[in-house]
Amino acid sequence: MNEKLLPKGGEKMRVAIIGCGGQGRIHANAYAQLNGVKIVGCCDVVEERAKELADKFGAKAFNNYATMLETVRPDIVSVCTVEGQHAEITIAALKAGSHVLCEKMLAATLDEAKAMVETAQKVGRILATQFNYRHIPSVRWLKNLLDKGFIGEPLLVTMMTHGYCHHHGIDLLRFLFGEIVSVQATLRGDRSEVPYKGFKDGISDDLLYIPSRAMGALAYFERGFVGVLASSIRHQVTDFMLELHLLTDKGRIALRRMRNANICGELDTNLDLQNLPPFPEPVPFSETFAPSVHAFVAAVKGEPVTIAKGEDGLRAMKIEHALVVANRTGQIVQID
Ligand SMILES: NC(=O)c1ccc[n+]([C@@H]2O[C@H](COP(=O)([O-])OP(=O)(O)OC[C@H]3O[C@@H](n4cnc5c(N)ncnc54)[C@H](O)[C@@H]3O)[C@@H](O)[C@H]2O)c1
Repeated sequence: MNEKLLPKGGEKMRVAIIGCGGQGRIHANAYAQLNGVKIVGCCDVVEERAKELADKFGAKAFNNYATMLETVRPDIVSVCTVEGQHAEITIAALKAGSHVLCEKMLAATLDEAKAMVETAQKVGRILATQFNYRHIPSVRWLKNLLDKGFIGEPLLVTMMTHGYCHHHGIDLLRFLFGEIVSVQATLRGDRSEVPYKGFKDGISDDLLYIPSRAMGALAYFERGFVGVLASSIRHQVTDFMLELHLLTDKGRIALRRMRNANICGELDTNLDLQNLPPFPEPVPFSETFAPSVHAFVAAVKGEPVTIAKGEDGLRAMKIEHALVVANRTGQIVQID
């Protein structure tokens, strides 16, 4: 246990939610499932939203995050506003002494994300990025097989995503296969084709975030193999979110049509997996959020869990930036 990061005397960890929209409610429900944690503050500029969530969990409602941080002094803060406000709020919460779980993407610009990561390092608090796709059971299953060497050395990975999931896909590739060091890319369409305004507001033009009509890209991994990435917002989101195909020196393994109703997707392989852990049962996408929030709480307690840190959020953004530059220049772009 990391005692210096915990409340004294075995008290419950105090959690505050900033941004009580869709994700704020999901984070709050996930914290509420844990013993040893209590929600003490909910903040939204729309007061009724803050009040509704606060009332549900017996917390105090606020319409100003700075006032809330000063009043309730949370150990943990979830930042669930849209991207344009992540940096300011996260930095304030870190400086107030809280550990922060920030929704993806980490920030609206690279400079903001760097400032967030630097602040967390300076004040000695944990900054995590909500990359919940890491908690998809079939992704965990595949990672276990890869890490234990059961399915051989990757030679080629191909990943197709719905545009909404592309940035999660980037993080998944790093989670499963290690660092991406350079990219090439071709993009078609522009941000005006992305339907939901919240996905565009304030986000730098230098970041891809959500590919519109089509993205085709090559990702070069530190370990020497190549990834082929394809993404489009024109998929039907209820029908398709993500698909991953892996060729190793032993054979072929694919997680097909991971989707809202069954985010594990279907296993398709020519490998003999008979004596290996079984492929997980189907789960809906909605069940990926709570495990990610719970892992963050465990990390704050000092338990030996791996979480997506602020550094992972920043790296994903650097890859987004490299994809934009690669499309603009037609060159292979190295990522520093
Ligand atoms: N991890 C995932 O799979 C996933 C899924 C959906 C959305 N997200 C991310 O979650 C974040 C929030 O998305 P959402 O869909 O919940 O948005 P939302 O619009 O439903 O909620 C955002 C809330 O923040 C409030 N808000 C705005 N400025 C504020 C401020 N200064 N202080 C306090 N509250 C403020 C808004 O009033 C709103 O209620 C985004 O970064 C989005 O990309 C992640």
